[in-house]
Amino acid sequence: MRNLMVAGNWKMNGDSVMASTLIDDIVVGFKGYDSCELLICPPFPLLSLVANKIKGTSLLLGAQNLSEHKSGAYTGEISASMLEDMGCQYVIVGHSERRAIMRETNEMVAEKFHAAVNNGLIPILCVGETLEQKNQEQTTQIIEEQLKSVMGTNADSMTNAIIAYEPVWAIGTGLTATPEEAQHIHHFIRNTISSISQEIADKIQILYGGSVNGDNAKGLFSMPDIDGGLIGGASLTARDFLSIAKATNK
Ligand code: PGA
Repeated sequence: MRNLMVAGNWKMNGDSVMASTLIDDIVVGFKGYDSCELLICPPFPLLSLVANKIKGTSLLLGAQNLSEHKSGAYTGEISASMLEDMGCQYVIVGHSERRAIMRETNEMVAEKFHAAVNNGLIPILCVGETLEQKNQEQTTQIIEEQLKSVMGTNADSMTNAIIAYEPVWAIGTGLTATPEEAQHIHHFIRNTISSISQEIADKIQILYGGSVNGDNAKGLFSMPDIDGGLIGGASLTARDFLSIAKATNK
């Protein structure tokens, strides 16, 4: 059985006052629950504040991006070892906002993914199609390309990784894939991995992301290949985030 995970991607939101209150409320509200792993991915400047606040709790810490480089003259960049040093265990790579706005290619995403793995961080690899690609029925082709450019012909790097299926048309739009639509793609992703390694395919957590909220979470999480969610907007309010976490009680 795979553990379920609910991960909060705060994106570029919050300050120290907001983060302190939000984390305190989440820690208190999550006490006594163990139906999922709960991961918080705040922006870089709030990582150490959140790391201190969750010390001694079951909450996990992740970053939203990392540099593909180890160290050196890369002004403004942050390396995997710096994230580890700040207490991160996870890092999101290839989020569609970075692919679209920061022009991250599949090759760059692959380099970041491997930089994370090589430093003992667990990457959360985001894949997903745009509305245009969906309408042109290119969804599985796009996702296969995104996956294979990272995985190559050897799935070993996926041993300690997580996948997040995030249809771009569902992110921040209020539109969500139906549980059946999402399950279909999650199953496709697991199958693609199983063509290389059945063991890793059975074990890897595949999260769904895109306008998940307290009302639609339970339907999504009840699907056999959906192992939790990557949550944007609703992770910024303790009540909403906790209601999604509690929806993992299958
Ligand atoms: P959303 O964002 O929940 O606000 O749609 C999800 C994400 O971008 O990870």
